[in-house]
Amino acid sequence: MCGIIGYIGPKQVTPLLLEALRRLEYRGYDSAGVAVLSEPVTGEAPRELQVVRCRGKLSELEGQLAEGAPVGHVGIGHTRWATHGRPSDENAHPHRFRSVAVVHNGIIENYLLLKRSLSDRGHTFSSETDTEIIAHLIWEELAQVEPGPDRLLLATRRALKLVEGAYAVVVLCTDTPDEIVCAKSASPLVVGLGDGENLIASDVPALLPHTRRVIFLEEGDLAQLTRSRVRVVGLDGIERQRPVRQITWSLLAAEKDGYKHFMLKEIHEQPRAVTDTLRGRLLHSPPSALLDGFEIDPTQVRRLFILACGTSYHASLVGKYLIESLARIPVEVDLASEFRYRDPIVKPGDLVVAVSQSGETADTLAAIREAQKKGAQVFSIANVLDSSIPRASSHSLYTHAGPEIGVASTKAFTTQLIALALLALHLGRRSGNLSEEAAADFVHELTALPAKLSQVLHTAEQLQQLARTYGHARDMLYLGRGPQFPIALEGALKLKEISYIHAEGFAAGEMKHGPIALIDEGMPVLVLAPHDGGYEKVLSNLSEVKARGGRVIAITTEGDRSLTALADHVVEVPAVHPLLAPVITVVPLQLFAYYVADFKGTDVDQPRNLAKSVTVE
Ligand code: F6R
Repeated sequence: MCGIIGYIGPKQVTPLLLEALRRLEYRGYDSAGVAVLSEPVTGEAPRELQVVRCRGKLSELEGQLAEGAPVGHVGIGHTRWATHGRPSDENAHPHRFRSVAVVHNGIIENYLLLKRSLSDRGHTFSSETDTEIIAHLIWEELAQVEPGPDRLLLATRRALKLVEGAYAVVVLCTDTPDEIVCAKSASPLVVGLGDGENLIASDVPALLPHTRRVIFLEEGDLAQLTRSRVRVVGLDGIERQRPVRQITWSLLAAEKDGYKHFMLKEIHEQPRAVTDTLRGRLLHSPPSALLDGFEIDPTQVRRLFILACGTSYHASLVGKYLIESLARIPVEVDLASEFRYRDPIVKPGDLVVAVSQSGETADTLAAIREAQKKGAQVFSIANVLDSSIPRASSHSLYTHAGPEIGVASTKAFTTQLIALALLALHLGRRSGNLSEEAAADFVHELTALPAKLSQVLHTAEQLQQLARTYGHARDMLYLGRGPQFPIALEGALKLKEISYIHAEGFAAGEMKHGPIALIDEGMPVLVLAPHDGGYEKVLSNLSEVKARGGRVIAITTEGDRSLTALADHVVEVPAVHPLLAPVITVVPLQLFAYYVADFKGTDVDQPRNLAKSVTVE
């Protein structure tokens, strides 16, 4: 949940750490801090740890550092999203015990036990965090290890053997000033390989100004970084070879690109993101889809589950419509957080599809592990390369949305829809339930989507106007039918998470069973009414709302003649295959939420209480 950076090399480290933390702030932002090893004043003078940390966003830390920043060439930094211990100066990382400073992302499950036994041995603590105990444990182990080149590595390894839970940890020690040691279990860490310098970070954007050559650490890896070398070993101390990868994202792709917020930039990136996700995966003759080498024989699939959380769950609900319509295979969609705790009936022969932008969501990861334990095969749809969920799956299809930094997911959602459409097409053809003609039409429609997405972005100005009109609303309803129902859920989620307006999504047919009681002049209702099989029924639902004084914004297909008389506002979107219409109709909802939040002046990219990847339960 937190952002981590470590550097060793010739550059002045404090400004470098701050710049990296700025790129990682989307991972958490309730406090931040740095620890820097001082330079020796005279030859043999001992090094000192200079730690500066405080509650609040990075700008608070920058303010403190403006009054005097630590000078040095080796350092670590952290931006936090609280798990153990409220956001405060004392709980901000780095945590230090005597010669050792650590930053940590994750949760140490047995920390109370460890803390108690450390207390029994005379240790006292200065924070409420689980992280602090790691510094204490490493310090204790250091005392047991003979001086030598691998002393910090060995002490960290021994300390982490005592620890249960999730961690990405980076360690600095005054006794071993020419190295940084880090370790990974369940939380991400990426090594950046430089020229006479090396870095470690929880995510790639922090590394891009310095290098494009990276190593993704794997489960149980520890790495020792000096200026000139990176060594990876396991918790057993055995050397591990990890491939060096070349990152092709442009630095610009990880920045705002001139937009006011990352979210707006990412909404506008959707035509490109969809193009990239389709690239090389569509077959025209005979029409079908490739899943990056994964071949599914539907006759061998006993049952098909899709598991995800939040926005990815909404994409998965659309996936059910896609797969059931095109392949006629029943699909069960589950919230990962529910699935894992209900002793699900999963057996060998079942296929579980995990959908996740970050690839790090703890609930989704735990749910697939549960499914694997019961013998299911797991296929994942993820955006972040080599993240934990794809690594835990037998096959993955990456969404190629590029880094998504705005906490509210947008381009990841539309590219997940594309990945699920590819899966449905693949299954449809292999099950024999999708005719060649229908598949060719679907391929044609998929190919046309990026241009239609560019077109629907032209509604931005209209949505900005509507946001000004309805930005003061206290509550809002979103209605949709069929594959538009999950879009109603997604539109409501977008609005509440960034504008803090209470919003609910409903299946339009459910209105009369209760929610219609909410309708009055103060309740704006957004109705998804593209021209599909549910259109006529949605028109009746819309009339029911109007009859009770509700104000209606309708999203419909261009050229519609019926809605102008019924709705207060009509937003027209390009005509598209009904099963792909969610890719298009969600865009005005994203724009509406964005402009309402911008109008209200909320923190669009970092809404309160939320973090980009939820790596805790
Ligand atoms: C909402 C949002 C979250 C995520 C959810 C799952 O805008 O982004 O609801 O969709 O936390 O995250 P991933 O997709 O990374 O597993």
